[in-house]
Amino acid sequence: MDARITVLPGDGVGPEVTAQAVACLSAVGERFGHRFEFQEALIGGAAVDATGDPLPEATLAVCRSSQAVLLGAVGGPAWDGRPRHQRPESGLLRLRQALGLYANLRPVAVHPALEDASPLKPEIVRGTDLMFVRELSGGLYFGEPRSYSDQAAVNTLPYTRAEIERVAKVAFELAAGRRRNLVSVDKANVLETSRLWRQVVEDLAPAYPGVKVQHAYVDSFAMALITRPRDFDVVLTENLFGDILSDEAAVLAGSLGLLPSASLGGSVGVFEPIHGSAPDLAGQDRANPIGTILSAALLLRHGLDLQAEALALESAVDRVLQGGHGTGDLKGAIHPHGTRSLGDRIREAIRPPRARAP
Ligand code: NAD
Ligand code: IPM
Ligand code: MN
Repeated sequence: MDARITVLPGDGVGPEVTAQAVACLSAVGERFGHRFEFQEALIGGAAVDATGDPLPEATLAVCRSSQAVLLGAVGGPAWDGRPRHQRPESGLLRLRQALGLYANLRPVAVHPALEDASPLKPEIVRGTDLMFVRELSGGLYFGEPRSYSDQAAVNTLPYTRAEIERVAKVAFELAAGRRRNLVSVDKANVLETSRLWRQVVEDLAPAYPGVKVQHAYVDSFAMALITRPRDFDVVLTENLFGDILSDEAAVLAGSLGLLPSASLGGSVGVFEPIHGSAPDLAGQDRANPIGTILSAALLLRHGLDLQAEALALESAVDRVLQGGHGTGDLKGAIHPHGTRSLGDRIREAIRPPRARAP
């Protein structure tokens, strides 16, 4: 197939990790006979510096004209003092909203070679295989009214039944294709929004009779997640809780640099690692590219519907990790590479599809 992929490198380590993911996508294209055309555009601090706007109209147009978007990360200390509309993070939030991306998939699996990379005991993390479904275009991130003065500030947490229902359906469907276990995380003992959230999930449950549904309060779930992660399969939650819990879940996997995401719901998906611009690592060839490379695999699967190609990229990552290769953020018996050298290894491990028996 021919596909146009927009690449938004962004700030900090963003350009370093997207470069490796693009190289891997090109290799997949070559091995499977596809032509991927990459178009770069500005977002975040890089876009603020060039145009004054963290999401220039031209960037949005390029994204809309492509089949999928691969994003690095945005933000950094250089722009932290800016007003909200000129902050890099606003560009990312506007992109998600403009493209209608309400479902953010964040898979978290513990690789057998990385059971010692977590500060948690191997017997706790071993075999963990989670799929977070984070609501991405509502809640506190976008709620009105919002305001700031140096005496008082306001944010608002609204959700409608329709907003909850559409993301919950994504979670139910994913659960039905996995271990049929769904936990919905809320704060229904305090928040009205969460009471509605819980009710909508309950109302949907009969339509998915094979899926076991449980509800958990976010505070106790935060503990359960790192004490008994194997008890969970699909985790459905609202925007802010999902942001926080998925970074926490990175402790299970061994590093924030490993985790990918897919933001879906509109006609063009955005695929990005869950980590930020890691200013402490930027420009040093030290960032782990795996979260972005696995995001590229999700782009193949969900953005281009190329299932075998996604698996080929994921199994290349698996084999490189199994061989004991990684970056310096991975503790344990791992040979540390730079960003580029690890990316090269993964790219070289991408194999063509098995020849079909005649
Ligand atoms: P961060 O995710 O950038 O970094 C947190 C920690 O994880 C740091 O110690 C960092 O070195 C490490 N880390 C992150 N990515 C890594 C990788 N690929 N390999 C190895 N280690 C990695 O979070 P932060 O420091 O809180 O935020 C920095 C900036 O990034 C802020 O401006 C923030 O707003 C922004 N941010 C952007 C996104 C995004 O673009 N999606 C996500 C989170 C934070
Ligand atoms: C993420 C990030 C973003 C979020 C920020 C940078 C707006 O933390 O993608 O997880 O909070 O969604
Ligand atoms: Mn985050």
